[in-house]
Amino acid sequence: MNYNKKTVLDVDVHGKKVLLRCDFNVPQDKATGAITDDKRIRAALPTIQYLLDQGAAVIACSHLGKPNATFDSFVKKQTEKGKDPATLTEEAWKKSLAQLSLAPVAKRLSELLGREVIMAADVVGPDAQAKAAALQPGQILLLENTRFEKGETKNDPELAKKMAAMAEIYVSDAFGAVHRAHASTAGVAAYLPAVSGFLIQKELEVMGGALANPKRPLVAILGGAKVSSKIGVINNLLDIADTIIIGGGMTYTFIKALGGTVGTSLLEADWLDYCREMMDKAKEKGVKLLLPVDTLCAAEFSADAKPELVETMAIPDDRMGMDIGPKTIALYTDAVKDAGTVIWNGPMGVFEFPAFAEGTRAVAKALADTNAITIVGGGDSAAAVAQLGFADQMTHISTGGGASLEFLEGKELPGVACLLDK
Ligand code: 3PG
Repeated sequence: MNYNKKTVLDVDVHGKKVLLRCDFNVPQDKATGAITDDKRIRAALPTIQYLLDQGAAVIACSHLGKPNATFDSFVKKQTEKGKDPATLTEEAWKKSLAQLSLAPVAKRLSELLGREVIMAADVVGPDAQAKAAALQPGQILLLENTRFEKGETKNDPELAKKMAAMAEIYVSDAFGAVHRAHASTAGVAAYLPAVSGFLIQKELEVMGGALANPKRPLVAILGGAKVSSKIGVINNLLDIADTIIIGGGMTYTFIKALGGTVGTSLLEADWLDYCREMMDKAKEKGVKLLLPVDTLCAAEFSADAKPELVETMAIPDDRMGMDIGPKTIALYTDAVKDAGTVIWNGPMGVFEFPAFAEGTRAVAKALADTNAITIVGGGDSAAAVAQLGFADQMTHISTGGGASLEFLEGKELPGVACLLDK
């Protein structure tokens, strides 16, 4: 995949209408709707500020959550969830849409930019069209949630054309959504010159560089609950990395595949053969594959559970693995110490519970202490690094969850592929 894409610096945006796709899919408090983390809005600021300073008229857009764009799809989804059909009224559907309006994002963006952000009531409807037409250089308009349009997730060319018709240039800075082939993330690029913003440029430079031409040794630390969600990543990194470190819930499927006992730990029995294959592939390729040697386990999955230290290969029948132990921490810290590049995706244990957060904290600290290029990808590991206070000590924390996973899998990302090559 070509990561060398044209950026906003390669086009003349002065006096032009620019359609800017951002990833404003921010977490919100369920009860109040308040934005609980504005990192993604802040991450878009350099590109927005640059475009406004250059005298562009910025038409920003984004999705938020997974709204049901039609009443029928709302009824279908809610019925599947077991909701009482009597409550599934048009009014309830509209209320569900209102909860996913981008209006709170417009407000926060306006506070951060220190200028007005004009909010459109629709995506390509009369309000958006009128406001886009009247938009002046140096002004910014935010369209309503792109997923309110049913053509968005279907990558409908008609919707893409309508969005494109409002602007003269397309800039994508929505790294978190580049793995989606949607009308606003990819389709629209067929109708406008399409370039990246600074955020995508940085993500491509740092992560693309680490995959294509890493400073060695390249150490990949892979955690998280399931082997099945990391198959593509492990497979791809076995071709690139010098060392792969395994942690988190997926450890136990590897341990079982090696003949260990895992008690009541997370286990994906269907993936045992796959783990064996991956361990064989690592041997063949001369890649060091490190697994935990000791584990903090507990009788139940709870914050109050009492941690007990056991050997990872011999977890008692009535215990589940919840975090890596001190010997493993020493082993992993040592592997990271002299690395040239470290890519980390997925926590080492149940870091949400303080008694089982030490493994994840120690790995974050090891990354903070090394001189290596340190890249944190994936929603959970980025959250862990921020929660544990190490965020500013990493070279790069990706803003993508699913997108950075697919990036590490070496997959072609539709939202990147659609941009003009340099
Ligand atoms: C994310 O939060 O990972 C991105 O915004 C993509 O969101 P999606 O999974 O709803 O497409």
